[in-house]
Amino acid sequence: MGTDHLTLPVDPTSRERLRTDNLRLDLVDTADPDAYAAWARAESRGFHSSVETDEAIEQRRSYVGGRRLTGVWDGTVAEPFAPVATSEAWPTEITVPGRRSVSAWAISGVTVAPTHRRHGLARALLEAELRTAHELGLPIAALTVSESTIYGRFGFGPAALARDLTIDTRRAAWTGPVSTGRVHFVSTDQLRDEGLALVERVRLATPGQMSYDGILWDRQLGLMVGDEDAKKLRLVRCDDSAGDLQGFAVFKLTENPADFTQYRLDLLHLVTATDDAYAALWRFVLEMDLVSEVVAHLRPVDEPVRWMVSDFRSVKVAELDHLWLRVLDVPAALQARTFAAPGRVVLEVTDPLGFAEGTWSLEVDESGAAAVSVTEDPPDVRMTAQELGAIYLGGVSPATLTAAGRLTGDATRLEAMFRSPVAAWLSIWF
Ligand SMILES: CC(C)(COP(=O)(O)OP(=O)(O)OC[C@H]1O[C@@H](n2cnc3c(N)ncnc32)[C@H](O)[C@@H]1OP(=O)(O)O)[C@@H](O)C(=O)NCCC(=O)NCCS
Repeated sequence: MGTDHLTLPVDPTSRERLRTDNLRLDLVDTADPDAYAAWARAESRGFHSSVETDEAIEQRRSYVGGRRLTGVWDGTVAEPFAPVATSEAWPTEITVPGRRSVSAWAISGVTVAPTHRRHGLARALLEAELRTAHELGLPIAALTVSESTIYGRFGFGPAALARDLTIDTRRAAWTGPVSTGRVHFVSTDQLRDEGLALVERVRLATPGQMSYDGILWDRQLGLMVGDEDAKKLRLVRCDDSAGDLQGFAVFKLTENPADFTQYRLDLLHLVTATDDAYAALWRFVLEMDLVSEVVAHLRPVDEPVRWMVSDFRSVKVAELDHLWLRVLDVPAALQARTFAAPGRVVLEVTDPLGFAEGTWSLEVDESGAAAVSVTEDPPDVRMTAQELGAIYLGGVSPATLTAAGRLTGDATRLEAMFRSPVAAWLSIWF
């Protein structure tokens, strides 16, 4: 990246567009505690969160130095210093097929005050974020979303799905391998450094996982001031026979006041580097006394645990769209990943915002490496930027989108090329 994402001026197009409505689009100086506090409180209010204490806000500020914060201000409201719309973004790395990464613009904190909704503020912010990312030379943008109805219009497609599993532990006797791993409780301090190193160690194994900046990890460990759930969190680690960390789990327990044998265990994070640690930690949570239900959040679509218990139907699955991607630079994005089969295919991509628009020749060699160029050849397949985002990680099948009428033409080769041997999965919200 040639230009610094923190110093690049605010997008002039959206700024001009909002100025006509007497609104001001600007960046937030995170070094200014008052400016940050006003932005952070507006963002919290936008998500209907509780009012945060000064201490909590100041702690959050200590994490945001690497993030670019944007706001929209309306000088005519009772609190003119508080933005009426917010967004934040930062450069991150997202794993792509082939144990490689692509640089991405992670966008978060998109809110518009209920007093200013449906006047195009979110559109101005989102388009500004995309133009900024493009200017910075980032090939894709990424989001996790509150509602799946918002971002398709900006060219994002759901690229990695996730599943919440609800497991009736009384029906789920362990039938999986017997692990040699050792599970033991740890404090947050004990896991903080080593756990993050493990997250980084396994990140390239799964397309869709992203590199963490500080707040994403510390939030998982319950380290944020004012986190109501923090005191309920329990942490365990799993070591191999050499004593090396190969996995950890973060969970919380909630009692059922009507029956103390029916606690619910929420498995919030489970990260493993080996099959042995995976078996050890899953068995540990499923066999806990006084627990009748385990709810595991944001798990991959190909979770093996269903095959490790006595009753397949003891595991109920609810699937959701999770990681949304938006391709901003077709050659850079496609050349960043490895493809599963060689061949050549011509893609026609339409994109109202222009970034991905064009007819592209995608040529993949025997090693899975891609060369992408503009072509005048007739397209084999046609799609919009949304579908390109959806199929990018191999998490959504081009054949499915063809059957759904979202992709037209012959997607047979595309199907073979885009496939990923590991299901795309992002295990956190950001
Ligand atoms: C979602 C939110 C940011 C939209 O802000 P907004 O300023 O009202 O949106 P805009 O007026 O710019 O709308 C842009 C487009 O999105 C559509 N849209 C906006 N919110 C939508 C929603 N929740 N569902 C479906 N469509 C939506 C608008 O109809 C408009 O469509 P069009 O341009 O095709 O006509 C705002 O309602 C909000 O803050 N919601 C609560 C927080 C939240 O969910 N944030 C998203 C985090 S991922």
